[in-house]
Parts: sequence; structure tokens; C-alpha cells
Amino acid sequence: MTCIDRFITQFDHALRTVAGPARASRPSPAARAAEAGLSPAERAHAAALMRVNHVGEVCAQALYQGQAITARDRAARGELERAAREEEDHLAWSAERIGELGGRPSLLNPLWYAGSLAMGIAAGALGDKWNLAFLAETERQVEEHLAGHLDALPEADSRTRAVVETMRADEARHRDTAIALGAAEFPQPVKRAMRLAAKVMTTIAYRI
Ligand SMILES: [Fe+2]
Ligand SMILES: [Fe+2]
Repeated sequence: MTCIDRFITQFDHALRTVAGPARASRPSPAARAAEAGLSPAERAHAAALMRVNHVGEVCAQALYQGQAITARDRAARGELERAAREEEDHLAWSAERIGELGGRPSLLNPLWYAGSLAMGIAAGALGDKWNLAFLAETERQVEEHLAGHLDALPEADSRTRAVVETMRADEARHRDTAIALGAAEFPQPVKRAMRLAAKVMTTIAYRI
């Protein structure tokens, strides 16, 4: 596949991420649990938390697409494509769960997507080990963030919790993959800047 072919494939993927329904390759973990009798406030809170997670997954799509465009190592590209497919499951599961809870995805998704793609490509331009460093640190922060959501979600909402728990386990594996492929370690100020950017994004996405 030439660089142009790869770009066209990724462009098609981008349109589907932002506009279309995502396609999951695994059944949603929500299917394991029955719907709980949540109060309207609990449903709204759970839907808003899942909107935040959905935004995270839109960004993950962009980051992995940035990787697919820039990654030089063929073996690494294969591993990253596998992780990207799991991210697509997360995207579909969180969108589906938002719908079940009566919520809607973030109106700013095209913006989140574009920002993440730009960052992914910028990291890719620095070479594979920094590209992977960006991915590893993102996955680590997402995993922590999902752990926080398990504390914040209504205790009875087993369907949402099942989705978040599976996503969290997947993100931990994605991080290990990035490290195994040779990710460098970012200096603390870069990690702090990423954390701050994530905080801004999650705060806005909880509302719109
Ligand atoms: Fe994910
Ligand atoms: Fe991930």
C-alpha cells in the first residue's frame, strides 16, 4: 500500500468515526448484565460519563490513524492495527450505551478528532519511538481515567460498568503493546501537559 492509499483509507475511516455508526467486532460487554432501575439523575450522570469516554475513543481512533499513517515499522503497524480495531469496539460500545441511557455523543466530536489526529501525526513525525511514547502515555492516562469512572458511576449500573471494565483492561494491554514495540518515556512536563489537555477535554465533554 502506498502512502497515498493509506491516507485515503484513513480518510474514509475518519469520516466513519465522526459521522457514522462504529462497527464493533466483539459483542458489547453490556450484554452480560441486565438494565438497572436508575433514577433520572443517575442515568444522566452515567450518560455524561459515557459521553466523555466516547470522546476519548474518538480521540483514540485519530491517534491510531495518525500512527497508521506515520509508523515506519511494518510489524509495529500490524500490532497497532489490532489495537485500533479494539478501539473501534470501544467507540461502538460507548455510543450504544449512551443511546441506551438516553444521552447523545459530544457535539464537538469533529473538533476532538481533528485535534488528536494533528497531535498523532506530529508525534509520528518525531519517529516511531516518540510516536509510541505518545500512545503509551495516552493509554496509561485513559486507563487511570476509566478506573476513576468505575468509582463515579452509579453502583447499580452494571451494564455501563461492564463496558468500562473491559475497556480499561484493553487499554492496559494497548499500553503494554506500545512499550513492547519500543516506546520511549516522556519527561514529566510533557506528561503533565497531556494530563492538563485531557482534563480540559473531559470537563467540556461531560457537558457538551
Ligand atoms: Fe479505548
Ligand atoms: Fe487503547
